[in-house]
Amino acid sequence: MVSSIDLSVDLAGVRLANPLILSEGPLSGSARLIEKVAEHRVGAIITKSIRQEKAQSPNLYMIKAGRGLLNADWSDMGFKAWCHELRQLQIKVPLITNVATNHVPPREAAEFAAVLQDCGASIVTFSDYEVENLVEVVSRARQRVQVPIMVKLPPFVPNLNRLIQRLEEAGVSAIAAMDAVGPGLLIDIETGAPLLGGPGGSGYLSGPPILPLALHYIAEISRHAKVPVVGVGGVGGYQDVLQMIMAGATAVGLHSAAILQGPGIFDKIASDLEQYLVGKGFQNLGQLRRLLHRRLAEQSEIYDWRASIRQELCNGCGLCLRSCFKGAINEGAHGMVVATEECAGCGVCVTTCPRGAIAPPAR
Ligand SMILES: Cc1cc2nc3c(=O)[nH]c(=O)nc-3n(C[C@H](O)[C@H](O)[C@H](O)COP(=O)(O)O)c2cc1C
Ligand code: SF4
Ligand code: SF4
Repeated sequence: MVSSIDLSVDLAGVRLANPLILSEGPLSGSARLIEKVAEHRVGAIITKSIRQEKAQSPNLYMIKAGRGLLNADWSDMGFKAWCHELRQLQIKVPLITNVATNHVPPREAAEFAAVLQDCGASIVTFSDYEVENLVEVVSRARQRVQVPIMVKLPPFVPNLNRLIQRLEEAGVSAIAAMDAVGPGLLIDIETGAPLLGGPGGSGYLSGPPILPLALHYIAEISRHAKVPVVGVGGVGGYQDVLQMIMAGATAVGLHSAAILQGPGIFDKIASDLEQYLVGKGFQNLGQLRRLLHRRLAEQSEIYDWRASIRQELCNGCGLCLRSCFKGAINEGAHGMVVATEECAGCGVCVTTCPRGAIAPPAR
């Protein structure tokens, strides 16, 4: 731990020791599981979506999809069992409870939130793919709870600016985004059957493939929102957390990476964030928040950049040569060279080179 660095953040009046949140999912599906994650450097934990009654997902309900996950997981122990477990829960990090209003209608969800507040929730949150339910549940919960109220938005909401305004008028304290993206499908080529077991075999995509979508969304939300924003979607390392914060997030949620790599990922990311801040001479993450918006305001477009290879960094692996659609990179007598007149300046080689031997244009 690097002691001069302060990773703590204030999320709608609740202090988190660091910005990392375990978002809703199977790792927060019971008190026992929550306690295991709380042993790691996590800033807050959000429960899996709490339903009225116990529910089970048909097998299989969570499978790898490229580097991400496709899930059809709606399993839950039910509201009464949750209340019992949460009253026994012993953790030092703030607990956030989630009720999904697609399973529990807004009127009941607001009542659930009042009880969950009494069970120890520091923040109550709601998620739904139907945003009208979110507006309704926030205004109902505002009458029933004193703790901050958060919502998690689904991907690709139209009229985002207006929705944020309506949520803020209804009394929302923080906005998280985003939920998994879908529906999606994967098929077993031996049988032709879907790999997931739910209706139609469909599921929702999470993990690294959705990071760029989530980052764009967070940048848009934080452009409009007055309340703090929590960035969720595809986060698996400190670089992803930094991007979320630069896009405007106050805190950052993840779930798929904690499933695929284990909850020790929170310790690794927190320590990597500290190293990054020390290395760059920053004291806290607030100095980086919304950096993207400041850079966009001063940025102009570039049309004349062409790739060039720094021979002292190049190991001759040939990845850039194979990925150049223009055939502009060739192996010369003294290493890889770019035929500048052929190069279109697209940038693929910059991001495929594992050695950082091809620098992007200076901005
Ligand atoms: C297996 C699984 C189950 C999930 N269950 C819930 C849920 O019960 N409620 C909810 O709001 N989001 C749920 N999510 C969505 C995550 O909280 C998160 O918004 C999404 O997966 C994107 O983050 P990630 O890429 O870090 O996983 C689930 C995600 C996964 C992978
Ligand atoms: S910038 Fe694009 S076109 Fe130019 S060398 Fe790299 S991959 Fe080829
Ligand atoms: S990808 Fe990078 S290291 Fe590999 S040959 Fe190209 S410039 Fe060299």
